[in-house]
Amino acid sequence: MLFLLDTANVREIARCYDLFPVAGVTTNPSLIAREKRPLHDILTDIRSVIGEAAMLHVQVLGTDAETMVAEAHQLRDRFGAGILPKVPVTPQGLKAIRTLSAAGFTVTATAIGAPMQALLAAKAGAAFTAPYVNRLDNIGADGVGVVANIVRLFNNYALPTKVLTASFKNVQQVQDVALAGAHAATMAPELLDLLISHPLTDSGIAGFMADWASAYGADATTLHLASV
Ligand code: E4P
Repeated sequence: MLFLLDTANVREIARCYDLFPVAGVTTNPSLIAREKRPLHDILTDIRSVIGEAAMLHVQVLGTDAETMVAEAHQLRDRFGAGILPKVPVTPQGLKAIRTLSAAGFTVTATAIGAPMQALLAAKAGAAFTAPYVNRLDNIGADGVGVVANIVRLFNNYALPTKVLTASFKNVQQVQDVALAGAHAATMAPELLDLLISHPLTDSGIAGFMADWASAYGADATTLHLASV
């Protein structure tokens, strides 16, 4: 299971990269727009934080295949092969996915709401498919169930395409897609924080620290072997 950050905020990306085993960053037009800075600057800064090897998913905005393909080429020319074009699964998007995959791009088919969209994107050559779990849950459409069906379809037909689950609002959704066999999950930094947050962890650590401090002092660690 790969964990990715779904944000364009460079400060948060740097914070999470320092702490978590993160495989890359996904952005979308809304996340980019939220930063109120030129796209070129945002992508340059993200790349400098995550390094050349990490995946950086960037969505194309064109509505026809030719424009989408041209956008992907320009992004790759400017930012290198580590840029993964995100292409929505419209009919024109499907065409663009086919063209870009044939040209050697690692393409992410995005805005997926149903298993058949994912299957067609995979057949068109997408390396990743991104179903939107919470947006499905919001309309009573069982986001995790959709993910489970996509995983099953890819297994049935031995397709190499990965399921990069997206759009999460809580830990339970992330855990459920992991149990369903999703290959990757992208989420906001604050949700990544919540994945390792547990009251028993906090109370357990607090108890250990109090016992230790009463015997050896609050600032002592095992580095202070001579004095403890
Ligand atoms: C996927 O890549 C999108 O960026 C995304 O996860 C959408 O999430 P949202 O539903 O929280 O906007």
